Parts: sequence; C-alpha cells; structure tokens
Amino acid sequence: MTSFNKHILLGVSGGIAAYKSAELVRLLRKRGAEVRVVMTQSALQFISPLTFQALSGHPVHTELLDAETEHAMGHISFARWADIVIIAPATANLIAKLAHGAADDLLSTLYLAATCPVYIAPAMNQAMWNKPVVQDNIQKLKIHGVHRIGPDVGVQACGETGLGRMAEPAVICECLEACFSSRDEQANCLRGCKVLVSAGPTREPLDPVRYITNRSSGKMGYALARAALDAGAEVTLVSGPVSLPAPELVDVIHVETAAQMHAAVLSRASGHDIYIGAAAVADYSPAVIAPQKIKKQADETTIILHKTKDILADVAALADRPFTVGFAAETHELENYAQAKLMQKNLDMIAANWVACGQGGFDSEQNALQVFWPNGRKTLPMTDKYHLAKQLIHLISERLQIINHEKKNTA
Ligand code: C5P
Repeated sequence: MTSFNKHILLGVSGGIAAYKSAELVRLLRKRGAEVRVVMTQSALQFISPLTFQALSGHPVHTELLDAETEHAMGHISFARWADIVIIAPATANLIAKLAHGAADDLLSTLYLAATCPVYIAPAMNQAMWNKPVVQDNIQKLKIHGVHRIGPDVGVQACGETGLGRMAEPAVICECLEACFSSRDEQANCLRGCKVLVSAGPTREPLDPVRYITNRSSGKMGYALARAALDAGAEVTLVSGPVSLPAPELVDVIHVETAAQMHAAVLSRASGHDIYIGAAAVADYSPAVIAPQKIKKQADETTIILHKTKDILADVAALADRPFTVGFAAETHELENYAQAKLMQKNLDMIAANWVACGQGGFDSEQNALQVFWPNGRKTLPMTDKYHLAKQLIHLISERLQIINHEKKNTA
C-alpha cells in the first residue's frame, strides 16, 4: 500500500451507498490523505455528518451560504484546497446537476470552481442507470473531463440486480492512488529536457503603419510552454506579438515576422530535445515593404506576396533535429490535412484542431485536439488550454521515450 500525502475532497450525495463512503474516508486517511467532507441535504437523510466528522477529523460542510463556513472555507477555498474531488455516491440527480452546470448547493458549486481532477462513483437503481437521459449526462461529464469509477453489477439495496451499485471503497481508493502516481509521473516527465516552443501570430508589414496578421492569441503556445516547464523542462519560447504575460522562468524571445521567427527558431532548434511549432506563421508575406505609407489611389490594388519559409519543415530537416511537433488549425477535412502535413513536413507528431466558429481554437480559452503520429492517434477532449497542454506534453514525452528506446535498440 502506497501512502499519499494529498488533500481529498469527498462529496457525498443522497443515496443508500453513502454509508460505504464512511469506509472510504477511513481508507484514505489510513494512506495519509487529508480528507474534507461536503454533504448534500439529501445525503444527511442517509448518514449523520458526525460519522464523517469523526472519521475525517474535520467538521462536515453542507451549506453554500453559511456565514461561518464561507469565512473559514467556502466553495472557492474548498476547490483550491483539493488535489482531487471524489463524489461518492454520485446520485442521478447530482450527475444531472453537474452535467448541466447547476450550482444550487455547496457540492455542485465547488465542482464548478474545481480545477483539479474530479471523480464520480455513481450509485443508483439499475433501471435509473440505464435510462438514456442518465447515460447522456454521464457522456457529457466524460466530455467535460470528469472521471468515473464504477458502477458495479450486483444485488442492489432495492432488491433488484444489475448495474448501479457504487464501486467498493477499496477500488475507489486504488483508482485515486493510480491518478496521483500518474500525476506525479507526469509532473516530472520532461525533467532534463530542453523544449523550444513557438507561439502566437506573425506580423508581415506592408508599409510603416500596416501589416498582415491572423487571429492567433498565442494562448495555446504559452500554455504549452507553461506545461513543459511544470513537467520539469528548460523552456525557450519564441513568441510573435501577443498580449500575454511572459511565463515566469521561461526564456522568451520576441519576434514579429515569419522571417524573424524562422531565424530565431532555426538558430536554436538543434540544441533542444523537443520543438513545438504552435505559432500561426504567415504563409505569405508582402514581396516589398513600402518605405512610406501607401497612399489611397486606384479603386483596386494588388499586393504581391511571397511564400514564407516553412519553419517546421526546416526544423524537421535538420540532421540533429529535435522531436518535432506541428499544429494544424483547419476549418474542414481536419484529419486528411493533418495526416498530410505529418507526412509532407516529416514530423514526429501533429496536433490538429478545428477553427470553425464555436469550436475552440483561435483566441478561445478552451480547445480540443486530435493528435496524430506515424501509426498512432489520440483525441484530447475539449478542456481549458493549460490542461490540454499538459496532456499533449505527456503524450510527447511518451512518444519521445519510445523513439529514444527504439534508437538505442537499433544502435
Ligand atoms: O502548413 P500549415 O501552415 O497549415 O502548417 C501549420 C504548422 O506549420 C504549424 O505548426 C505552424 O507553426 C507551422 N508553420 C511553420 N512555418 C510556416 C507555416 C507554418 O512552421 N511558414
């Protein structure tokens, strides 16, 4: 049994399985976790808060708007305090509330405020579990990144047999343990690595006052730089013009044009283990930059554009190339274009995302990615860009390890 020195917030909603959660608190405490318990009003009908208070060593919280609780530990403080939230049992009603963003009590509100991993252990009658609306809500929560433990098959408190029993406390404990160990592993997955990230748009000047650019905010590239740093890497960020603060401890090189970005990246790439090209580099730049402001004259005018150098393809063509990751922002035929770029630019990995209206991507706080590599793929569902970046960084570190291992074996 490994011990984990973590903060676990246990949410208990109103089902007969609530009595099993008392055992869960005991098992978690035995492993060194600090546990705080939040109960819904209906959970209070099944088990006394005194039981959880005695087992956790802390008062149990039930009220959203409780002056005393808010002063000491309100929904925001709970959400910040927790390394993990586990809701066991999670009733059909609570699942519906979480799936739809309702925030009418302490537990549902702190779920919305939580940025840590959230687990649910559903428990309900088998017919309820099988209802399409319940399954729809479960699917929604899955898309929102909520992890599910159980339910199990067996005899239920109502006398029926089927799927709906809450997972056993020991199983829940093991799942949480696996989550912590994979998070600790992820937290160090790039220790000793040097990572180069390019981010943001480029600006291609037409004259002293005008330029051609695009909608990239740089948020995804900055999140990747932050996630690589948090995974233990030494990070250099080549950034186009954005209005984001430079992440602390990251070496930032500011550039404007595609040509400047090309020079900044190519002069550094060989000294890095990983290059992530998350910048939206202009594909074309004006052939001539007018030295003075272009005056309004004819009804129509033409600008001659020259193709820019492909930074990503040039990095991938280096003799001592880093593990090279590209991005593909597409409005249609996402997979076809992404796979084609992976091959044509000779990349180790490509992360593709939709940039059509309302689908995340440019300037949005959230995004989803379809990641492809030679003979492999993974979907990273819609979430905030930092969590998405963490998942992509972990995937990159896994692929890099495999490639390094293969290289060693063939050497
Ligand atoms: O070919 P396309 O521009 O669609 O490919 C997108 C990927 O290529 C992104 O990773 C982007 O950073 C990179 N790119 C580049 N240099 C260019 C154009 C795109 O590195 N001139």
